[in-house]
Amino acid sequence: MLTLGFIGTGNMGAALATAAAKQPGNRLLLANRGREKAEALRARIGGEVTDNCGAVQADYAFLGVKPQMLAMVTPELREVLARQNRRTVVVSMAAVTSIARLKELLGEDVPIIRIMPNTPVSIGEGIILYSCSGEVTPEEEQRLLEAMSAAGRFVRIEERLMDAGACISGCGPAFVDLFIEALADGGVACGLPRALALELAAGTVSGSAKLMQETGKHPAQLKDEVCSPGGTTIQGVRALEKGGLRSAVMEAVIAAYNR
Ligand SMILES: NC(=O)c1ccc[n+]([C@@H]2O[C@H](COP(=O)([O-])OP(=O)(O)OC[C@H]3O[C@@H](n4cnc5c(N)ncnc54)[C@H](OP(=O)(O)O)[C@@H]3O)[C@@H](O)[C@H]2O)c1
Repeated sequence: MLTLGFIGTGNMGAALATAAAKQPGNRLLLANRGREKAEALRARIGGEVTDNCGAVQADYAFLGVKPQMLAMVTPELREVLARQNRRTVVVSMAAVTSIARLKELLGEDVPIIRIMPNTPVSIGEGIILYSCSGEVTPEEEQRLLEAMSAAGRFVRIEERLMDAGACISGCGPAFVDLFIEALADGGVACGLPRALALELAAGTVSGSAKLMQETGKHPAQLKDEVCSPGGTTIQGVRALEKGGLRSAVMEAVIAAYNR
């Protein structure tokens, strides 16, 4: 039995706790500033509601508060971590907050896993980038991945690449949403009802992504396979190139990174 504490059960904290609840053998401790939010989550997924100091006394303690709240939340957590007998791995989902900064706040010896989840975590299809501090053992890393497998795919990444990775997996859902909307708008312009156009567009994007992952083919090869000589698809590809689609997408990732 693993105990997982969640400090801050807002959007992302609740999404990760919901995934954790799907794994038999996980015991959940839920804490939130407004206790009613934690109570409502407990009613949906089970577990126990406690306070921040209670939730940090776990095998893994997830920090789900906004980055600017960390300095306020961590002093009492630091005290509990220093005086308790159990070993707690702190799992921080706070954007742009380095492991070095988390150690300043929580203690130099505290094992820390920094994660960067994205919104599809809420349906079990997330990408969760993560980096570990030197104190985290391979067994602790492995046990976390098993306990959280219902959240999606965990991808270990060097911490220095975390922000760049997050510009794809974290910001990417919004970019892909724009593409799906535009694809559907094109269909509407050609006479399709809106709901049908959206269904076709979303299904096509997710199916194309799965095809690439399952065949291991490069996207350029898959594109070539759909473009028959003198056919209709290559005319659409031509229009996309003329509109600068690829350059626009690259610029979007770089703009997010520079921000
Ligand atoms: N949302 C995303 O897509 C996403 C993606 C990657 C990473 N993240 C990271 O996830 C973290 C949470 O983001 P979010 O979008 O889930 O924000 P959110 O919905 O605002 O959740 C933050 C939660 O923290 C609670 N909280 C605030 N102060 C607290 C305290 N002192 N003690 C206990 N709980 C406290 C809030 O409770 P009240 O409502 O009662 O104030 C709220 O439920 C952030 O660090 C963010 O960088 C989010």
